Amino acid sequence: MAIATETTTETRLEPDGHYWRFNLLHRISHVVLIVSFLGLAATGMPLRFNQAGWAIDFSHRVGGFDAILLFHKAFAILLTLVFAVHIGYLFWLGLVKKQKGILWGPTSMTPQPRDARQLVQHFKWFLGRGRRPKFGRFAYWEKFDYLAVFWGMMAIGLTGYVMWFSELAARLFPGWILNLSLLIHSEEALLAAWFIFIVHFFNSHLRPEKFPMDDVVFTGRESIEELQEGRPAEYARLTEAGMLAAAGGEAPPLWLKNSARIGGWSAMVVGFVLVALTMYAFFTEGSVSEAAGPPDRPLVGPALTTTTTPGADLTWDWDIGPLLADRCSTCHTDSSIAGLNLSSYESAMAGGRSGPVIIPGDPDASLAVVVQRPGGHPGQLDADGLSALVAWIEAGARR
Ligand code: HEC
Repeated sequence: MAIATETTTETRLEPDGHYWRFNLLHRISHVVLIVSFLGLAATGMPLRFNQAGWAIDFSHRVGGFDAILLFHKAFAILLTLVFAVHIGYLFWLGLVKKQKGILWGPTSMTPQPRDARQLVQHFKWFLGRGRRPKFGRFAYWEKFDYLAVFWGMMAIGLTGYVMWFSELAARLFPGWILNLSLLIHSEEALLAAWFIFIVHFFNSHLRPEKFPMDDVVFTGRESIEELQEGRPAEYARLTEAGMLAAAGGEAPPLWLKNSARIGGWSAMVVGFVLVALTMYAFFTEGSVSEAAGPPDRPLVGPALTTTTTPGADLTWDWDIGPLLADRCSTCHTDSSIAGLNLSSYESAMAGGRSGPVIIPGDPDASLAVVVQRPGGHPGQLDADGLSALVAWIEAGARR
């Protein structure tokens, strides 16, 4: 048998024989995935924490929140493409190449009873009881990472597109779907970012046997020794099938190893910086948004002493701008939705598709109030917010 004679050459592959773990498409996909994910996280965070000082500073430097949103959408398209290519590849493998075992079996990504057993064994092994489980092509944590991305793509991707095409979505679904989309999108995305930057980084790269980085996803190759050590079940399967000799290759060239290290480390550093920033923003969020509002203002002075109407001390810069940034900015930061940009005083006063939305002195004629009063606008002010808006307009809509 041809395969049998090939297996006799197996010794040639040791000790520095390598086998291919990931093909070119896997590797390119992973690189594009990294770039788009980091891009989405880096542009999504300032949008999510648009009240935080660092986010506002950053937005000034790069041309405003509209510019950030534009890049966010570009990275979203990139990630959608990788996702589509991956799904297409799975269908091609299954339907055209008729490859078996995509959905079940030793090489499948689907979690199987074995994975649950190995999870338990693995934790016993951590505690020094029992032997390390014999992992196969994909270990349980790798399947979990993979499915997390899958689920994340659905939850974050779909809600993202709902907001992107919110005018269409508002026509198809009730308004609360848009509100809910924003909530899911930003909370789930934060979770995904923390998950990837902490759990995935640690699992894949900071494991003792791979520390400080596993570059196999970039080089595609791993040594047969590492395979034997780390994934004995896969080693046995490949050996039995006589595929190890056929799969055997040379060690990855130095340039590739070095690029993998540089690229991988850069991605990890960017990820950790993002985690630090977002943790900081997340845990100081309340205090940051308060700092942007009235409590920080001097409580004596002309604004208070000359007050006759309730809204006379309200200004765009101190009160209404931050309020609308909080409640309206996800949709009205560029002019793509209803032609309305509420991100600056000038653009808010310029109005939207239907003309001015703020008419100083006349809240009842101001569309910004008119759309908010009945409730149920995709971005809705609470009662306090609405009365502040009304009072501010009544008092002349001061800057
Ligand atoms: C989740 C997205 C979303 C948020 C957040 C949002 N809006 Fe809107 N807004 C829309 C959509 C979609 C339309 C167009 C609706 C339509 O065609 O009926 C719109 C239209 C408007 C219009 C009409 C503009 C025109 O010229 O026709 C005004 C005014 C408006 N919004 C004010 C606000 C204010 C004020 C806030 C914040 C308190 C806000 N919106 C938050 C989605 C949003």
